[in-house]
Amino acid sequence: MINDIEARGARMAQIWIKLAVLYLLVGVVFGLVMAATHHVEFAPVHAHINLLGWASMALAGVIYHLFPQAGGSRLGLWHFWLHNLALPVAMVGLFFLLAGHPEIEKYVIASSVVIVLGILLFAINLFVNMRARS
Ligand code: HEM
Ligand code: HEM
Repeated sequence: MINDIEARGARMAQIWIKLAVLYLLVGVVFGLVMAATHHVEFAPVHAHINLLGWASMALAGVIYHLFPQAGGSRLGLWHFWLHNLALPVAMVGLFFLLAGHPEIEKYVIASSVVIVLGILLFAINLFVNMRARS
């Protein structure tokens, strides 16, 4: 049972890191296009694709690789789904909000709250389930 959770944690860690590097790719291309077209009003989208996408997710992946008991736990799964379902909504929503669609704001707020909730579970998960590999 313990080994099943650890094995799942190790798999989840790889998925976190693979998704993170896709965010890095999208984030730097976005930055380049933003710089080339002088549309720096979209900097918060670029910043958070790179920071909530690449940096936070790669770190989660590395941490869950080190502590697969946490990565494969129920809290780890909830963290994964909340973060990964809400982040694309938040980023696309923020893009359209900054492009002049104020009616989108409620979706950006709601998805951001879900991301924060996921990160709260991440924190709880590390305190509850972070232990040396068996
Ligand atoms: C080749 C890759 C990248 C390009 C071309 C690029 C381009 C840019 C540009 C044009 C801005 C707007 C600057 C301004 O407001 O005048 C910016 C802001 C920013 N970028 Fe990047 N960026 C790149 C990679 C990254 C990466 C990898 C990260 C984070 C891991 C990052 C984080 C940020 C942050 C946090 C800001 C906002 C800074 C602020 O508001 O003061 N960028 N970037
Ligand atoms: C759901 C979580 C988050 C929310 C709701 C959030 C919200 C915000 C907001 C409202 C701003 C001001 C943007 C503006 O100038 O108009 C901001 C800026 C910034 N945030 Fe976040 N943030 C979150 C997570 C993070 C994380 C995890 C990091 C770093 C790892 C980060 C790094 C930054 C940086 C560097 C800036 C300044 C760059 C910019 O102007 O875009 N944020 N954030």
